[in-house]
Amino acid sequence: MKDINSDISGFYKLSIEKRHQLLGKFFEFDSEEKGILDNFGYFSSKQIDTLIENVIGSFNLPMGIACNFKVNNKDYLIPMVIEEPSVVAAASNGARFARKHGGFYSEKVKSIMISQIQLTKLEDIEKTKKIILENKNILLKIANDQDPFLCKLGGGAFDFEFKELSTRKGNMLIIHVLVNVLDAMGANVVNTMAEALSPYIEELTGGKVYLRIVSNLANYRIARSRAIFDTELLGGESVVEGMLNAYEFALADPFRATTHNKGIMNGIIALTLATGNDTRAIEAGAHAYASLSGKYLPLTKFDLDSNGNLLGEIEMPLALGIIGGMTKIHPMAKLALKILNVKTAEELSQVAAAVGLAQNVAALRALASEGIQKGHMALHSRNIAKLAGVPDELVEKVAEILIKDKKIRIDYAKEVLKTIKK
Ligand code: MEV
Repeated sequence: MKDINSDISGFYKLSIEKRHQLLGKFFEFDSEEKGILDNFGYFSSKQIDTLIENVIGSFNLPMGIACNFKVNNKDYLIPMVIEEPSVVAAASNGARFARKHGGFYSEKVKSIMISQIQLTKLEDIEKTKKIILENKNILLKIANDQDPFLCKLGGGAFDFEFKELSTRKGNMLIIHVLVNVLDAMGANVVNTMAEALSPYIEELTGGKVYLRIVSNLANYRIARSRAIFDTELLGGESVVEGMLNAYEFALADPFRATTHNKGIMNGIIALTLATGNDTRAIEAGAHAYASLSGKYLPLTKFDLDSNGNLLGEIEMPLALGIIGGMTKIHPMAKLALKILNVKTAEELSQVAAAVGLAQNVAALRALASEGIQKGHMALHSRNIAKLAGVPDELVEKVAEILIKDKKIRIDYAKEVLKTIKK
């Protein structure tokens, strides 16, 4: 490899082929690597080059299906895109434990997003609020003129909320524009509305607007799901006792709560990605919501029901859309939405909440019993065997030996292969 010079002007203007040639100055790609770079999956090179900037290739991940889900009395097959082994199997398991008792019940989710307008350099905040409220209808009309179609369908901006902040740059009035975005994730539309409103707000109030942007803490778009998980299927009372202890641990300790919530996000983000939604928005919103009380808390709650089964609940913001963004552009996301068979963004959020809860239950069950490494290791050792060049027909056999000998390493897989061949 030659020394890399990252000061490349006009990289964005080059074709993908030219970008590969340029990278070739620094890296010697062999023919296999060149083949990988030239494989855009189901995109043409022209299409993929319009999706983000400076494209050089396409990154494939596996999509799996989690089974056993019943949410609000409807059966679902859950498409999940994730690189981590065991997650899909765990989600299916979590859903199986709930299925015996009717599956998941998810509450209604309103698709309300918040756009923030940061109004500064104000002489009188109370007077400013009054002016904005006096002009509320005009301002809402300006916002809604940005998306007449959304309004025609029954959505649109419908209210303002105020937040006063005292900062080192002086007092600020933060205006929250509340928008019903219906089936979209909504960031684009609320950003457009906030940008359109800002000059009028400046003119009316004499203040100076800086930021106008969606808040990913979508605390009006909260999904709640609950289910009863069968104690016998979970492995009995002692396993459930362990799970309740795990929950108390997460309640009391942010170090544990972070990992607890990470497990929830394994499921939610896999579905978010599969459906072409914005994973970072979901992730940021989830963790902010988890710490709204001032302490970082688990996003789920557990208790025993009167029959001694485990009652689980999840509550978190889920700004997921079925239109806009990648949802209708990415061929696999389109297919995922077809398989998922949801008709509205609300339904998608209801299902996603159930997936998060199922994922969490499966993780806690494994942690409270045999531990998670057992399941992980089976898949991991197969991958290691493949990486070591073990032929397909021997992968299972080699993987079993790696697990038995507790040496899941490429060098050992090679050694085992040699012994088998002899
Ligand atoms: C691993 O991806 C997720 C878990 O660590 C979650 C948890 O600890 O609850 C198993």
